[in-house]
Amino acid sequence: MLTNKKIAIIGVGKMGETLLNSMIKNNLVKKENLYGSTAQEEHAQEINKKYGIRTYLNNQEMILEKDIIIIAIKPQMMKKVISEIKEVVTEKQLIISIAAATSTQFIEDCLGRNILVIRAMPNTPALINEGMTVLCPGRYVDKRHIKMAMDIFGAVGLVEVIYREELMEVVTALSGSGPAYTYIIIESLTEGGLRMGLPRELAQKLTAQSLLGAAKMVLETGMHPALLKDAVTTPAGVTVDGLMELEDGGIRVTLIKAVSRATEKSKELSR
Ligand SMILES: NC(=O)c1ccc[n+]([C@@H]2O[C@H](COP(=O)([O-])OP(=O)(O)OC[C@H]3O[C@@H](n4cnc5c(N)ncnc54)[C@H](OP(=O)(O)O)[C@@H]3O)[C@@H](O)[C@H]2O)c1
Repeated sequence: MLTNKKIAIIGVGKMGETLLNSMIKNNLVKKENLYGSTAQEEHAQEINKKYGIRTYLNNQEMILEKDIIIIAIKPQMMKKVISEIKEVVTEKQLIISIAAATSTQFIEDCLGRNILVIRAMPNTPALINEGMTVLCPGRYVDKRHIKMAMDIFGAVGLVEVIYREELMEVVTALSGSGPAYTYIIIESLTEGGLRMGLPRELAQKLTAQSLLGAAKMVLETGMHPALLKDAVTTPAGVTVDGLMELEDGGIRVTLIKAVSRATEKSKELSR
């Protein structure tokens, strides 16, 4: 579906470059149909050399006659960039915005016409094709547009679609920020192993692979994590003592509160 589409990425930064790289690597789109813009000339030249795609500093010029426009700039730049492209964007072009805390309605209203908009919230493991992206369609898109967005983000991991946009703030706080929470857990478990005498490198590998394995068990078996936990916890065994310490430290409440607090922050930023 994407093979002959022309795709322009406004903001080839961390996330924009990840998407560009995956579309090229996975042969989703021909290189000559990919275009990218940055704020600084040096960066544009670097992207041009690295990927062999045409790069721009002028967004208006870049988006002319492109089928899909991915906006991957910081949320605080959105107003400026949208007003830049407003004059030239057409009702045939699909806009996919990955900017946090920026609603489809905000983008539609700023553009002022029946413009096709999809909001996407990916996360950084997209870099290694283990991302989690949630899509939320705007008012004027149909199934074909959603399918195109699913193909783009499906190349870098799992994709889900939701239709209640207010839930995108929770998505941001859960899967968008989730990798950061997990790194703290990895760091802490590693230090637990270190404290008990394991070399750091080995402790980190044991931790990361245990988390990866447990996550795959949840995704692949579809079982409730409590049942999977029971399978590790033997009577009067080792694990239950560890679990008691986790509960004593309030790990469940802490993690629940982390997502709630981050959701509130995302709501605040989107206002
Ligand atoms: N990082 C994450 O985990 C994550 C996850 C989900 C969603 N997001 C969202 O993704 C968006 C981008 O985040 P990021 O982490 O990729 O940021 P980033 O690395 O700072 O990339 C932003 C890019 O935008 C470019 N840029 C700035 N102004 C521009 C303009 N007027 N025209 C064209 N390009 C412009 C910058 O160019 P220069 O390099 O030349 O300055 C930079 O390359 C944000 O809205 C964020 O909310 C991020």
